[in-house]
Amino acid sequence: MTKRIHVCVAWPYAAGERHIGHLAGAYLPPDIFARYHRLAGNQVLMVSGSDTHGTPITLRADQEGVSPADVVQRYHGRFVEGFLRFGLTFDLYTHTDTQNHWDVTHDLFLRHLERGYIYSDVQQQLYAVDDQRWLPDRYVEGVCPFCGFAQARGDQCDNCGRTYDAVELKNPRSKISGSANIETRPTEHFFLDLGKANDFLIDWLNRPDKADWRPNVLNFARAQAESRELRGRPITRDLDWGITIPVPGYDDKRIYVWYDAVIGYLSATKEWAQITGQPEAWQDWWQEGGAVESFYFIGKDNIPFHAIIWPAMLHGYGPIAAAPGAGPWLKLPSDVPANEYLTLGDFKFSSSYGNVISINEAAERYQVDAWRYALTAMAPEANDSEFTWQEFVRRVNTELVANWGNLVNRMLSFTYKQFNGRVPEPGPLDTADQALLTTVLAGFDSVGALYAARKFKAALDAALRLSQEVNRYINDRAPWQQIKSDRAAAGTSVYVALQAIDWLKLLFAPVLPFSSQQLHAYLGYEGQLFGRQYTQEVADARGQHLALRYDHSAAAGRWQASPLPAGQALHKPEALFIKLDDSVVAEELSRM
Ligand code: MF3
Ligand code: ZN
Repeated sequence: MTKRIHVCVAWPYAAGERHIGHLAGAYLPPDIFARYHRLAGNQVLMVSGSDTHGTPITLRADQEGVSPADVVQRYHGRFVEGFLRFGLTFDLYTHTDTQNHWDVTHDLFLRHLERGYIYSDVQQQLYAVDDQRWLPDRYVEGVCPFCGFAQARGDQCDNCGRTYDAVELKNPRSKISGSANIETRPTEHFFLDLGKANDFLIDWLNRPDKADWRPNVLNFARAQAESRELRGRPITRDLDWGITIPVPGYDDKRIYVWYDAVIGYLSATKEWAQITGQPEAWQDWWQEGGAVESFYFIGKDNIPFHAIIWPAMLHGYGPIAAAPGAGPWLKLPSDVPANEYLTLGDFKFSSSYGNVISINEAAERYQVDAWRYALTAMAPEANDSEFTWQEFVRRVNTELVANWGNLVNRMLSFTYKQFNGRVPEPGPLDTADQALLTTVLAGFDSVGALYAARKFKAALDAALRLSQEVNRYINDRAPWQQIKSDRAAAGTSVYVALQAIDWLKLLFAPVLPFSSQQLHAYLGYEGQLFGRQYTQEVADARGQHLALRYDHSAAAGRWQASPLPAGQALHKPEALFIKLDDSVVAEELSRM
């Protein structure tokens, strides 16, 4: 039975380059997951976009002396370019400064207001007297009220991940001028009443379907909900960049970026439905109780927003159709597989620290599949992990190239040369032949189950071990010896190995889509394992925006062990992967 798999990917701020830490943490995992499910014949909808609002954008614009819109346009374009290169198959990658996103955000705001999940109140906020300006979010830094971290921002601490109000920071200072001449002044804002959703969150986070959540996510979210400290959080700001407040009298304020950003998952689904000409199709992906499962791929600093705030917002919306008791509610997350951080040396991988390699540069310097391999193998699934260039070279050379790449290489070139470029006709299979094929075939279940369970490192590792089995088989059989005395026996060994390789091609394909496609062609197949990525300009009342799209119609449901046709003509093979020179390490270190 085919399932609907909604793949929701964190919306990057369009305010700085994405780098390989982001890829390993939040962008490759959902693509691997989406590709696996499409191969497995499920319906997938993967959405995200650039987060165009908030102080990360305005701060960057201030620094560069350009407008926030310019900053957004530049980085949004860079992200689309990089995501294309890395083969991230978004069905829609859009951004948040679209009319559709504004409309959906206004709809949620008004519904929350009407249902008592949003209220207004006068609150003390930080005001920098010397700068003559309010200090929302990233405009202020101070000491974290929870863990004492000295560079905590106004809305969230980078060290402990907790969220709080800027007035709770100790020793606040202006990020603009460094001034500590800061007062609190009263200002009226709207609040999202998380306290009202507290009982619901405790209940939801303790439902049995949470058993397969990652402990880092579940423990964090449960601790927050069960502390019963959830209360109203301001969701508007004294800023002039962002989505307007859909209530008269608040022209000088805007909606807080985090309230609108998470709504992107819903608004992007609606935009996708509109673009595809079935405006109501979004409902298939958003009805609680329906056949859809939704997965949110994020980095750990986003956990409170996805495991507490967004579920509270979805719950607070009530039934999709406005009438009370009328039909399904909005779908709550099935899982939030957040990753920890991939660190570089002692630094957290963050665009604000410098010394990092952007995804566009990464794609220019080394093969994309080599990156996809290494970053998946090193991914910080359970703990912070460290990226080093030495480890990158080691993983590529001793694992990807030495194990999988060489297996493919030697078997394809041997066949091409010795068997007239055709898959040889096998004789009867003996027990060793059959045993190998049975082992690799079982990978469709075992490796598939690991992909589906968001255990990508384990899936890759399992595929690699199967490849090692094929290497062992080939070394035992030594067809290059067999052929000297018994051409038919050599042909059988080669056939068995090629059949195993043809299946492994699929087992690796979610992680290594480009080289698996290449191999597919070398093996003599026509056509595409996956669909096609493309960009599209979308126009709406707020203007035009560039969208990244994916057309899956050409490929679906290949996750099965189909027989390799004997006699099939190969295409002249070349090495799938480039072995890296050891000098890469020194070269890369000298750039940093
Ligand atoms: N822009 C945020 C960040 O880069 C992530 C937003 S994820 C979303 O940390 F769900 F809110 F969109
Ligand atoms: Zn902290």
